[in-house]
Amino acid sequence: MEKNAQKREETLDPADWDSMRRLGHRMVDDMMDYLQGVRERPAWVQPSEQALGALRQPLPRTPHTAEEVYDDFLTHVLPFNKNNIHPRFWSWVEGGGTPFGMLADMLASGMNANLAIGNHAPVYVERQVLDWSKELFGFPETAGGILTSGGSMANITALVVARNQFYNAGIKERGLHALPGQLVMYGSAETHNCMLKGAEVIGIGSDHFRKVPVDGQYRVRPDLLQLMIDEDRKAGLYPFCIVGNAGTVNTGAIDDLDALAAIASREKCWFHIDGAFGAIPRLLPRFRESLKALEKADSLSFDFHKWLYMNYEVGCVLIRDAVAHRAAFSSPVNYLAAHQRGLSAGPDPFSNYGMELSRGFKALKVWMLLKEQGIEKYARLVQQNLDQAAYLGELIANHPDLELLAGISLNIVCFRFHPGGGFNPGDGPDDKALNELNKEILMQLQETGIATPSYTLLNGRYAIRVAITNHRTRQEDLDLLVAASVRIGNELTKTADHDQHNRQHSGV
Ligand SMILES: Cc1ncc(COP(=O)(O)O)c(C=O)c1O
Repeated sequence: MEKNAQKREETLDPADWDSMRRLGHRMVDDMMDYLQGVRERPAWVQPSEQALGALRQPLPRTPHTAEEVYDDFLTHVLPFNKNNIHPRFWSWVEGGGTPFGMLADMLASGMNANLAIGNHAPVYVERQVLDWSKELFGFPETAGGILTSGGSMANITALVVARNQFYNAGIKERGLHALPGQLVMYGSAETHNCMLKGAEVIGIGSDHFRKVPVDGQYRVRPDLLQLMIDEDRKAGLYPFCIVGNAGTVNTGAIDDLDALAAIASREKCWFHIDGAFGAIPRLLPRFRESLKALEKADSLSFDFHKWLYMNYEVGCVLIRDAVAHRAAFSSPVNYLAAHQRGLSAGPDPFSNYGMELSRGFKALKVWMLLKEQGIEKYARLVQQNLDQAAYLGELIANHPDLELLAGISLNIVCFRFHPGGGFNPGDGPDDKALNELNKEILMQLQETGIATPSYTLLNGRYAIRVAITNHRTRQEDLDLLVAASVRIGNELTKTADHDQHNRQHSGV
């Protein structure tokens, strides 16, 4: 065997630190330019065949220089970003990040801290962020909580606690056999589908997620919820959890959370609120009342990466009863035992509060961004987005060829091009034709890089859906969206009329 002294030991650190440092500076400069110039570029660019080819290569076996790899990134990856950083990105519900958030992520990655366990500053940073979150949403200091990759994981984490809390004895050891019978949970028909996935993951099955019908404003019907619970009890089932929506994904509807809290308390059900983005307006005085019931939830999820505009990914779940939270996930093992001193001392490990053991330092960007901007700035930006949604709503309502398809309760606007206007499909083309027309308008808005709204179906009607969780959007962007939608709609209907005319005259 070779003597240690003679062995050439390898490392992944650079052989030439100076050139890596230079490359790092170049990357920071490039990304700052990229972010600063985002408005000048299209809202979306379809990935080119060449780029897709470059992203289907065999496993690299031999090294490339860091500069070569970076060039590949610049050529094949960066130009085809999803672009949720763009001022006219309004798809699904996504935030746009910030330059300082990017730098914070760089620092977190440089530290490369694993927040599973241990006595080190990063875990105290996450605890600080959780304490701030409790303060923001009116949860007691004693509450539990954990940062997650996003709203879906936050919701599922809460459901695990809710299920275990319902019939604590033995479920961790014996699984669902420990339960007295079939559990059932409830939420409006507009509830995000990650809740259904949650019902599947916790083993009660998505058939036992009861989709409670909604009213004309897409809010849950508490009277029907009560009826469904009564029927399930009569059938020998076990209602255990009610989910309230603070901001539904389709339209931003806020359920009557007080009514749900009252039913949950009467029925001894866990009350979870999915506030992925819709909990955030609680920062504003005018929402303090309508969102006061957040304080009544047993658990609340929300995302920092949506309407707090932070860089992906970071969500959060707060759980009022920290003991129940811990009981659901703690699993003592020798190699993770806490010590009185040394690296293994420190606060109760986060691994006792969630599924993950290894977890990154996502708390750093939240901590740095909240300090950099202050919560009042975030409140103003949320108000700005609300005003923008209201402005867009007015533009649409006042345009004869556009139609609002849902009321605007928060920051989501659903509309369609409907030449002739009005709500009566008999006034113009039928819904099927309108659905096709509006889908094509959306495709052209996206493919020409004008803007990227998304879509949904509301009562069978295809809606162009604009969700404004964007700190870069300006009113002029919304003017442009409206003008472009009408122009494309008119062009398409003219072409369709022209084709029909030609067919008639050629006898086809
Ligand atoms: C209401 C609601 N809940 C949950 C989610 C899922 O959140 P995430 O994408 O962070 O997992 C979303 C996503 O848009 C949402 O709008």
